[in-house]
Amino acid sequence: MALVNGNYANLKESYLFSDIAKRVAEFAAAHPDKKIIKMGIGDVTLPLAPTVIAAMQKAVEEMAHKETFRGYGPEQGYDFLHKAIQDYYARHGVQVDTKEIFISDGAKSDCGNMTDLFDDSNVILLPDPVYPVYVDTNIMRGRKILFMYGTPENHFLPMPDPSVKADIIYLCSPNNPTGAAYSLEQLTEWVKYAKANDAVILYDAAYEAFITDDSVPHSIFAVPGAKDCAIEMCSFSKTAGFTGTRCGYTVVPLGLTRRTPEGGELNLNKMWLRRQTTKFNGVPYIVQRGAEAAMLPQGEKECQEMLAYYRENARIMMRTFDKKGYTYYGGVYSPYVWLKCPNGMKSWEYFDYLLNKLAIVGTPGAGFGRMGEGYLRLTAFGSREGTQEAMERIEKDTL
Ligand code: MLT
Repeated sequence: MALVNGNYANLKESYLFSDIAKRVAEFAAAHPDKKIIKMGIGDVTLPLAPTVIAAMQKAVEEMAHKETFRGYGPEQGYDFLHKAIQDYYARHGVQVDTKEIFISDGAKSDCGNMTDLFDDSNVILLPDPVYPVYVDTNIMRGRKILFMYGTPENHFLPMPDPSVKADIIYLCSPNNPTGAAYSLEQLTEWVKYAKANDAVILYDAAYEAFITDDSVPHSIFAVPGAKDCAIEMCSFSKTAGFTGTRCGYTVVPLGLTRRTPEGGELNLNKMWLRRQTTKFNGVPYIVQRGAEAAMLPQGEKECQEMLAYYRENARIMMRTFDKKGYTYYGGVYSPYVWLKCPNGMKSWEYFDYLLNKLAIVGTPGAGFGRMGEGYLRLTAFGSREGTQEAMERIEKDTL
């Protein structure tokens, strides 16, 4: 008799963004005349950078000739992309070995797949508000989850509590959904805590490219000693507009080891390599060439121009909220503005209000956890025209 994983019964019925997409599709079907402005899921709208496109076109051409055609590539990615990522890190003051870098089809996949490396007896510590993938992938394994709360008082940056014993800690900085970013001093505290508890930090740096302030670290590895206790996941989705192209990378330090329940010791870099070579066949050559171009200095410059456009969208949003007297957070180190729902409305109530009255889609903060109740997340990844029109609708509205 086949038995299924009963932990799935403990999940919410659907994934947050699928749930929202369904509601929006229903609204669109019922109101075909309404022009809906989507500021929900953090999906980019600008086309890929010119050097990225040129690199991918060249790669397509290579695939058209016997001499340059490529079949299976290395499961952990091509050396040319490892090198480009290593140089990108170095430009931001962090040294990584190319053997520490693993290419994948995105940070979301790595985030879920990473659960394979750890025993299910581990206690997981998650921030709240939180990117739902961290929660759901651990519920799927039946693991014990503890939450640490992000509030306006701690600037949505929960810090270690020595009385809490956790084995695996997820940190996301700049944070999805709040946009808050840890300082070097704060990350140093987290590294200290992880070392004291023999814990591992899973650090999600998907939004690092939004950081413009040199005092804010782009990587947990900016903290001395972090390679003894951290794994970093990153994505080309937000950095280079690859949400539909799919590419990400994870850095697993060469010297990172932890004990097995049987009392042995395993190296996590070797485990991840073993996992990926067994369960994954790599990212398409064409996509990796595009990703390489995005990491080279000219590509980085062009991608930063794209991010500047989104940052301006965020400023337009924040100006409107200032005029309205609304309270908000984020919008600086990330493409998200974390808005306190006006008039004390609850998250889904305000989501419904915006959708039904103004045809604007946001993401209800409650979808990111208990502490997200009473907030709504809006993305700056939309078009300039869409962002401006949405803000005009909000400005004119009486709420
Ligand atoms: C979001 O809107 O939170 C992100 O786009 C989701 C993701 O990156 O998977």
